[in-house]
Amino acid sequence: MAKQTVTVTLTVNGETHTAEVEPRLLLVHFLREHLNLTGTHIGCDTTHCGACTVLMNGRAVKSCTVLTVQADGATIKTIEGMAENGKMHPLQEGFHVEHGLQCGYCTPGMIMRAAELLAKNPDPTEDEIRWGISGNLCRCTGYVNIVKAIQYAARKLREREQAAAGS
Ligand code: FES
Ligand code: FES
Repeated sequence: MAKQTVTVTLTVNGETHTAEVEPRLLLVHFLREHLNLTGTHIGCDTTHCGACTVLMNGRAVKSCTVLTVQADGATIKTIEGMAENGKMHPLQEGFHVEHGLQCGYCTPGMIMRAAELLAKNPDPTEDEIRWGISGNLCRCTGYVNIVKAIQYAARKLREREQAAAGS
């Protein structure tokens, strides 16, 4: 029997893609295998670890839990879309400067989750950061430097906002 496919159109990191996909195809597999965006990692494939987190219409979602057909028409941002004009996003800079990673497996998901957190709450407390990333697991760092990396980015983004408001 021929495989049933569905036509989907998604905007990923500013580029529009139309594809024929099987209805069961997970968004994370579409990103990694159809678009070669392998920065989005697969850790558990069961909604636990958060390694596969991306932004869907500005909301952090675990892309191993979203079917590609559910993302039809959506705007997706992955870790590959974070840098602008060849410059790291303040969150990427923060993880680098504050040593917020060891193996790096959880890092893209952490950054995407933190991006949503800072968009909603530009000046979070440490508790709010810890609660915010509580759906993302890291097996290496003990989280201390991840929190510092997010605080670093929050500071940078606020400074950027203030500079833009003053100019
Ligand atoms: S791979 Fe999606 S939550 Fe772990
Ligand atoms: S840095 Fe290794 S899992 Fe987080």
